[in-house]
Amino acid sequence: MAGACATPLSGVLVTGGASGIGRACATALAEIGRPVALWDLDGAGARKAADALASEHGVRTCAAGLDVRESAAFPGLIDAARAELGTIGGLVHSAGVSMPVPIDALDEQSWSAVLDVNLGAFAHLTRALLPDLRANPGSAIVGIASINAILGNGINPAYGASKAGLLGLTRSLADFLARDGVRANAVCPGYIDTPMLAQAFESSPRLQQSMERQAMLGRLAQPGEIGRVVRFLLSDDASYMTAEHVVVDGGAVRSQR
Ligand SMILES: NC(=O)c1ccc[n+]([C@@H]2O[C@H](COP(=O)([O-])OP(=O)(O)OC[C@H]3O[C@@H](n4cnc5c(N)ncnc54)[C@H](O)[C@@H]3O)[C@@H](O)[C@H]2O)c1
Repeated sequence: MAGACATPLSGVLVTGGASGIGRACATALAEIGRPVALWDLDGAGARKAADALASEHGVRTCAAGLDVRESAAFPGLIDAARAELGTIGGLVHSAGVSMPVPIDALDEQSWSAVLDVNLGAFAHLTRALLPDLRANPGSAIVGIASINAILGNGINPAYGASKAGLLGLTRSLADFLARDGVRANAVCPGYIDTPMLAQAFESSPRLQQSMERQAMLGRLAQPGEIGRVVRFLLSDDASYMTAEHVVVDGGAVRSQR
């Protein structure tokens, strides 16, 4: 049986699209002519990025400022995005937070914040997008996880749990969505040069060196190096890939260093 043929230029909704990896995913998609909707807590940043992509790449874009934990806002914002982009046949969930608190100091508030943004929002947003994904054959979704889904990190249990949970969620979504020809995958970035990591370097100056040493390639990645892998997973070139996670970490998790 031939694989479903994707609508080549269907629109993609990108959460966390104002910054870092989310913005790089939107850029990679706009480069090949895919319309993009950028959602972010930072609505002004999302608007600015969307306007820049529209003028640089001539694609339809739109932006919204929201907290992705507020799922009641999804239907109205999805309607607005569909009207602006024409179709929605893809999702990238890149909005994420890291609040390092070890288990002996863990509080319910930070646990819930990390789990709800990094993991819960991916489930609720996928549910809200089902009619759009089903209406566009070859649709695909990608969740941004982390190598912390695989490695143990004692100072950040909520983050690791949210990212490992995202891999489990992705496999369940892939199984459920396959009947509609929709694929679901995840990407596990290693150490990526974004504002999230810059914040961590401020509190621990030697962290950058140690991350660079851990990666076999000896450097941090640029966000575009993740964006281009996500673009591939959302494309027909990845038509037989689903329920998978792709580690993009310069060899960090395979390293003995
Ligand atoms: N930078 C890294 O090294 C790295 C490594 C592995 C995984 N990741 C993951 O990649 C994703 C993107 O991170 P980044 O490094 O680009 O960070 P970033 O801080 O540059 O971008 C994250 C974006 O998410 C938005 N956001 C946060 N909470 C939100 C909420 N509740 N609602 C809507 N938007 C919200 C922020 O405003 C920001 O624009 C995250 O899921 C992160 O966990 C990052």
